[in-house]
Amino acid sequence: MDPLTSTSSLAELYHENSKQRRHDRSFGWRVAAVANSPAFRRLTRNPGKRYDGSPVIRLPRPDPLDTRLDRAITERRSVRRFSAEPLTLPQVASMLLLSAGMPAGPGGPNRTTLRAAPSAGGLHATETYLVARAVDGLAPGVYHYRADDHLLELLHEDPTAPERLARASSYPEILDTAAATLVFTAVFGRTTLKYGERAYRFVVLEIGHVAQNALLVAVALGCGAVPIGGFVDDEVHTLLDLDGVDEAAFYLLPVGRPTSRWETPEWQKGQDAVAAVMEHLWSNGPAGPQPTT
Ligand SMILES: Cc1cc2nc3c(=O)[nH]c(=O)nc-3n(C[C@H](O)[C@H](O)[C@H](O)COP(=O)(O)O)c2cc1C
Repeated sequence: MDPLTSTSSLAELYHENSKQRRHDRSFGWRVAAVANSPAFRRLTRNPGKRYDGSPVIRLPRPDPLDTRLDRAITERRSVRRFSAEPLTLPQVASMLLLSAGMPAGPGGPNRTTLRAAPSAGGLHATETYLVARAVDGLAPGVYHYRADDHLLELLHEDPTAPERLARASSYPEILDTAAATLVFTAVFGRTTLKYGERAYRFVVLEIGHVAQNALLVAVALGCGAVPIGGFVDDEVHTLLDLDGVDEAAFYLLPVGRPTSRWETPEWQKGQDAVAAVMEHLWSNGPAGPQPTT
């Protein structure tokens, strides 16, 4: 469907079909029925993937941050160039614990989630991966963060992984200098079971909450990061060994120590050519040359 020629884009169709409406009781019934089901409560008590059998790296409980929240918010800017300095394991541990983790420790049987970020129904569809390039104490490769035990599971030790992720993104020049990149995915089924079509809205919102926490913690640690939505989805899925259907990537978050050294990014070097194409498209439009009046 071409959003330029169609009166209803896929986004509009989705939005209409996932609206909650006052006189439609089916959504409320579904939510209540699922939420009250003992089987559902048992199933969702401890959301989060486990890669049993993978080598495990236990992360330190980080020291409290001493940057004020208002300062971290004020100083947060997207950082797209990083110095060669590696990240330390406590820095990575802070970013993970305070974005996707359980800073107050795992909950008891009746307090099931206690994560740093809110989640619709406490179902926590977000999973967090770390692609490490230069982190003290971590071999370069792909890791999965397990929130309930605050540890990393090593999925593949692979010095080429950071470069493959960079090539899968639309901004290899940004990821190439990052010490590590967080990848946030959603496991849709955890949320669709209860919320049906509306779940897609929820999982995207939730990843935003987690990512914003990570961005602010990066500032507080004297690091920098940028949230990246531009990447070739299935290349990222291949790297993380995901099917892209039940679980899919939404955000890349390269992080490192900021540098003031500025190089013209690749996309900016081609701006003259891009401007010429835009001008051509604009004046001709999808249906060919427009009459001039
Ligand atoms: C959903 C979303 C997707 C983004 N994707 C990209 C991206 O693909 N590449 C990039 O360089 N920046 C990306 N950004 C960062 C924005 O460009 C940046 O936040 C914006 O320019 C404002 O600058 P600031 O973050 O420094 O305030 C994205 C931000 C958001 C919220």
